[in-house]
Amino acid sequence: MDLEHWKLTVDADHIAWLAFDRAGQTTNTISSEVLRELGRIAEHLASMPPKGLAVLSAKDNGFAAGADIDEFTRIASAEEAVAFMRLGNEVYDKVAALPFPSVALIHGFCMGGGLELALACRYRVADDGPGTRMALPEVMIGITPGWGGARRMPALIGAAAALDLMLTGRGVDGRRAKKLGLVDAVTPRRHFENAARQILMNPPPRRHPAFAAAVTSWPGIRSVVARMSAKKVAERVRRDQYPAPYAIIDMWKDFGGDPRNIPAEHPASTASLFFHPTTKNLVRIFKLQDRLKAFGKVDSREGGNPHEVKHLHVIGAGAMGGDIAAWAAFKGIDVTLQDLAPERIAPAIKRAAELYRKRLKQPHLVQAAMDRLVPDVAGNGVAKADLVIEAIVENAEVKRKLFAQVEPRMKREAILATNTSSIPLQELVGVLARPERLVGLHFFNPVAQMMLVEVVQGPQTSAATMQAGQAFARRIDKLALPCKSAPGFLVNRVLSPYLNEAMLMLDEGIPAETLDAAAKDFGMPMGPIELADMVGLDICWAVGQELAKPGAIIPKQLQANVEAKRFGKKTGQGFYTWVKGKPRKKGGGPGTVDLKALADRMVLPALNEAVACVREKIVADADLCDAGVIFGTGFAPHRGGPIATIRARGKDEWLRIMAELKAAHGLRFEPDTGWQAI
Ligand code: NAI
Repeated sequence: MDLEHWKLTVDADHIAWLAFDRAGQTTNTISSEVLRELGRIAEHLASMPPKGLAVLSAKDNGFAAGADIDEFTRIASAEEAVAFMRLGNEVYDKVAALPFPSVALIHGFCMGGGLELALACRYRVADDGPGTRMALPEVMIGITPGWGGARRMPALIGAAAALDLMLTGRGVDGRRAKKLGLVDAVTPRRHFENAARQILMNPPPRRHPAFAAAVTSWPGIRSVVARMSAKKVAERVRRDQYPAPYAIIDMWKDFGGDPRNIPAEHPASTASLFFHPTTKNLVRIFKLQDRLKAFGKVDSREGGNPHEVKHLHVIGAGAMGGDIAAWAAFKGIDVTLQDLAPERIAPAIKRAAELYRKRLKQPHLVQAAMDRLVPDVAGNGVAKADLVIEAIVENAEVKRKLFAQVEPRMKREAILATNTSSIPLQELVGVLARPERLVGLHFFNPVAQMMLVEVVQGPQTSAATMQAGQAFARRIDKLALPCKSAPGFLVNRVLSPYLNEAMLMLDEGIPAETLDAAAKDFGMPMGPIELADMVGLDICWAVGQELAKPGAIIPKQLQANVEAKRFGKKTGQGFYTWVKGKPRKKGGGPGTVDLKALADRMVLPALNEAVACVREKIVADADLCDAGVIFGTGFAPHRGGPIATIRARGKDEWLRIMAELKAAHGLRFEPDTGWQAI
């Protein structure tokens, strides 16, 4: 057969080995061409037939990352969307119907359409390493698993577990997949051939979900499970803002998990979801994420990364430094962690152990990560480090003093980074002999959860140092956003006026609960008052001071809380009282208040600042502004970021509201001069 994306061989035992190797791409993704070729292969195999079929990937990074997102975004009509969905189903159904056993051999990424292909095979074997990730993440881009996953997964592992995976888009590793019944065996990749041979020569009985799991698919129980799932989803997102999770439940409950059974006009249909604005925005964010990832890419033709960080030294083991060090060690880097005394480092090591136990689970992996994280009060690591990250107190004078001591002890080619959240780099470089080697690496709190790192370019930072900072962020699986060094960089600069406005509204007597409800109604994952308490009111205060424009009004309750050292979650009291990590909110609901108007007022200062950042080229363009604000703050993802929010409603409408707010509240609602260019 003449094949472009698949390699087919049949061995002496009559086992067919089908390796997926998408031509011209480093990652396997599934296009219509890939599907059509697979369909022809399935027909050919059915007519031979071999004793068994093993489907595997020829790429080292994984089995398959899902449908080809570029092809997906080129789809222009409902007919095309439906045709793509149908094609995947038809081809995978052919694989599932093969009259001999088949096994998918899964390593690395096995996502979306990739997992749906594995599910169409009779058996699955997964690599037992931590790099294995199986998921149906379609919900994250606003669609539903459309190539048989929503039928086959519930049948295999029970509806409750399958719905959980489909509704969250969460990934599982090989061991977890085995526990769930998603795979039949886990083994190191080097044993795949043997494992496949064993299964195909002596096919074991097919897996069925355990009784308790199977029950969840019974007709009577089905509606109960659907209701429970819908309730859980409703706690997180609204149907008008995020239709996909609701569509997954409907599809499973009413249409046998098969999108082909859904009438076109139903809100769960492929066409309805495809053209929902949320889907467009989520797909755009997904692609922007790839753009941020590319900033950290190192051109292998140029002999790899000249600044590969093998050893990281972190100074300051507080909330940020401790967690940055822990995260880097988790990602395989040798780390030394310095602070003024051992007892200041101990809590960071304890938090690291918790993180590793939670994420790595296997004791030997936890131990290996712990071994990579070395407390270092004396700062011996400085001399060995390829990168030194400073995360000590937010005080320029103290930071300069530290830099003056540290730089002479660093390797000549090593890079120095600061995690400062507000001090422009130009205020720190004066003491350095090699200012071109200073870069900002601004992480977000909590480090393990926030994907973004602002990589900040000071006036003297060299291009090579920027590249090294970006590559490091990528190396530890974060998203690098190159930013110019100006107060607040991008994210805090946009976030701060939003929090500030909310706190001024609080001073006007609007209850915290109402303000938070208004922001959530707009689509923010958390309200601004709760968020301020989470971030820490001391930090909000410091950042607010740094970014305040002349004549800015200071939020009074914020000031009172800071003076009384009521810093929010970390002290148990801020705007809210915090009990067991949760704010105590008064019930009763917002009543008849116009939540939309409240949200407009809170959000507009952030939109205005985003416009200013684009105009000042703090980041290279409007798309990066949206990406940074979404990944750095969680700004209503379904709206696609601040600039997309402006464009969706129209800038004239926003400017009209702004003029009204300016008349009522003054100059902080003066539109930036950049609005015309948006
Ligand atoms: P923190 O107060 O929790 O930790 C600072 C640590 O630095 C303390 O353990 C302190 O003992 C240590 N330290 C102070 N001077 C030192 C010195 N000369 N040598 C060694 N260790 C020293 O502070 P946090 O929140 O971790 O912030 C650190 C930096 O990160 C600041 O620049 C802050 O602006 C920035 N940042 C903070 C974020 C946050 O949400 N907390 C977010 C992003 C950046």
